[in-house]
Amino acid sequence: MCGIVGYIGARQASDVILSGLRRLEYRGYDSAGLAVIGDGGNVSVRREAGKLDGLVNMVKSDPVDGLIGIGHTRWATHGVPNRTNSHPHTSMNSRIVVVQNGIVENYLTLKEELQAEGVKFVSDTDTEVIAHLAERFYESGLDFVTSARKTLQRLQGSNAVVMLSPEHPDTLVCARLGNAGGITLGLGEGEMYIASDIPAILDYTRQIVFLENGQMSVVNQNEYVVTALDGTVLEHEVHNIPWDPVSAAKGKYRHFMQKEIAEQPQSIIDTLRGRVDFDKGTVTLPEMNLTAELANKINKIYTIACGTSYYSGLVGKFLLESIARMPTEVEYGSEFRYYDPIVDDKTAVLAITQSGETADTLSAVEQAREKGATMWSIVNAFGSQAMRSADGYIAMQTGPEIGVASTKAFTTSITDQYLLALKLGELRGVLSAERIAELVNDLALLPDMSGQVLNDEAQYEELAKLFHRVEHFLFIGRGINYPIALEGALKLKEISYIHAEGYPAGEMKHGPIALIDETMPVVAIVPQDDLYDKMISQVQQSKSRGGTVIAIATEGDTRIENEADHVIFVPKTSKYLQPIINVMPLQLLSYHIALRRGCDVDQPRNLAKSVTVE
Ligand code: AGP
Repeated sequence: MCGIVGYIGARQASDVILSGLRRLEYRGYDSAGLAVIGDGGNVSVRREAGKLDGLVNMVKSDPVDGLIGIGHTRWATHGVPNRTNSHPHTSMNSRIVVVQNGIVENYLTLKEELQAEGVKFVSDTDTEVIAHLAERFYESGLDFVTSARKTLQRLQGSNAVVMLSPEHPDTLVCARLGNAGGITLGLGEGEMYIASDIPAILDYTRQIVFLENGQMSVVNQNEYVVTALDGTVLEHEVHNIPWDPVSAAKGKYRHFMQKEIAEQPQSIIDTLRGRVDFDKGTVTLPEMNLTAELANKINKIYTIACGTSYYSGLVGKFLLESIARMPTEVEYGSEFRYYDPIVDDKTAVLAITQSGETADTLSAVEQAREKGATMWSIVNAFGSQAMRSADGYIAMQTGPEIGVASTKAFTTSITDQYLLALKLGELRGVLSAERIAELVNDLALLPDMSGQVLNDEAQYEELAKLFHRVEHFLFIGRGINYPIALEGALKLKEISYIHAEGYPAGEMKHGPIALIDETMPVVAIVPQDDLYDKMISQVQQSKSRGGTVIAIATEGDTRIENEADHVIFVPKTSKYLQPIINVMPLQLLSYHIALRRGCDVDQPRNLAKSVTVE
C-alpha cells in the first residue's frame, strides 16, 4: 500500500508533500517521489528508490519550486523497487502526471492497446497506463477533468489516484475506486490537501472529507467538488477529526512501536471511556446500534480479519461464545471470500481492523453483506471505510497506530470484543445484571496491571541479549491464550525476521515437538488458570527434549521457576482478560530482540501498515 499526498495553495507544495509523506511512510517505503508545477507551468519531478530520506536529500540538493503538487511513497506490487518504477509517472508527452495506490487489474490490456497506438512505456508498473490513457483522451480534444474521468472509468480493480496536468496549474483530480485505501480531502483557508490517511495532513487541518468508492473530486485552491465517475455532483459530509498531530508523533520514544506499546494502559482507558460505568456495572456501545431484537435475531457471528486483527478475533471468539453464548467463527478475510460460507440475515459479520482499509477484510464483509448479513466493525482509523460502511461499530479510540507491527490496536480490540460480549450477553438475556457488574469490575484494574507489565524493560533487554542470534522460536499456549502464542510469533517474525511459529500447546506431541532441541527457544504462556497443569506438562516435555523455555506466568506462581529457564511474571486478572496482559511481554521481547538485531522496528522489510490491495 502506498501513501499519497496532494497540495494546492500558497505554501511551497514540496514542503507540505514531504512532511505528509513522512507521516505516511508506514504505508510503504520502497521508493518515493513528487511532482510540482512551477511558474510557467513546468513540472519538476523528483523520484528516488528506498526510504523517504533519499527523496528528501534529493529535493534539498535540487529544490523544486511551486504551489501545487503530488507525492507518493511506494510499497511495490508491480515492478521492482527502483527509481524508474517510482511514482509519479508521467505520460509520454508530459501532459499528465499520476500517483496511485492499488492495482490496475486490466493494465496489461490497456498497455497493449496503448502500445499498439505507439505509446512508449518506461516502467514495469501498472500505474503508468493511467498517465498515458489520460493523455490520449486529453489529446483527443477532451478537457483535463473529462480526460481524467474517462480514464478512471476504464480502470479495473481497486485504485486511489491523483492526477495533475502542467497545462492546468490550478487543478488536482483525485478518485477512489474500490477498497484501495482512502482518499481524504483536507479543507484549508485558501489551500486544499489530498492524502491517503489523516496523519499526513493533521498538522494543517482537522476538516476532512472522505471520498467513497466510485467517487472523484476536482480540487482547486479555494474550492472542490465531489462527483460520481459520470460527473454527477454528490452531497458529502465534512468531518471534524478528534486526533491531534502530537498523537501522530514519536515524542520521547525511539520508535513508534515502543511508544504504542507504552500507550496501552491509556489506550485501554480511552476505549472504555463513555462505554463502561463502573458504579452501575453497565456497558453502553452507542455506535453499535444494538437492540435486544437484533441481538436475539443474530444466531452467528463471522469475525473477519487479517494478521494481528485475526488473532484478536480468535481471542474474541472465546469471549463471545463463553460470555454471550453467541456462536462465532473467525475467518481470514483473504479466505472467506473464496469459499461459500453460510451467511444470511441472521448472520453478523464483525470486521476487526486497525486501519479500517484492509482490502481483504473489506471485500469479505461486503460480500457477506450482499447475502443479507449485518455488518459490525471494531476499527481504529477514524472515518475509515470499515467505520463508515458498518451498521454498527466500536471505535478503538487509541489514536493513530504508526508502527507497522500492531500492538495497542491488538489489546484494545480484545477489550472492545469483551465489551461487545457483555452487551450481547445482556441483550440476549444470558447474563444477569450482577454477572455483568462483576465482569465490568474486572476491567477496572486492567490499565494499572498493563502499566505494571510495561514498567520493567530490563528483563527483556536481558532476554534479547541471550536470544537475538537464534533463527527459530516456538510459541505455545492453550485455550484463550493459544491466539496469544500466534500473536507472539507474528510480532517476532514481523520485526526481527526470525522464523517463529505459534502452536496450540496440546498439538506439540502431534509434530512440532520434533523441532525442539537446544537451538529452539520455546515461549510458553502458563497463566494459573484451569489449563495450568497441562501447560506445565508441556513445559516439562519441551525441557526433556533439550529445549530452553521462557515462561509467561502469573505473579504468585512459586512452581514455574523450577520448571522453566526464564520466567516473566505478570499480574493475574480474570481468565477472559489475561490474554491482554499476557501479550505485552511478547511485544516487548520481540521489540528488544529486533533492536539487538539492528532491524528497522517501525518499518520492517517487505511490510506496510495497511494492506489495501488483495
Ligand atoms: C500486524 O502487526 C500487521 N501489521 C498486520 O498483520 C495487520 O494486523 C494486518 O495487516 C491487518 O491490518 P488491519 O488491522 O489494519 O486490518
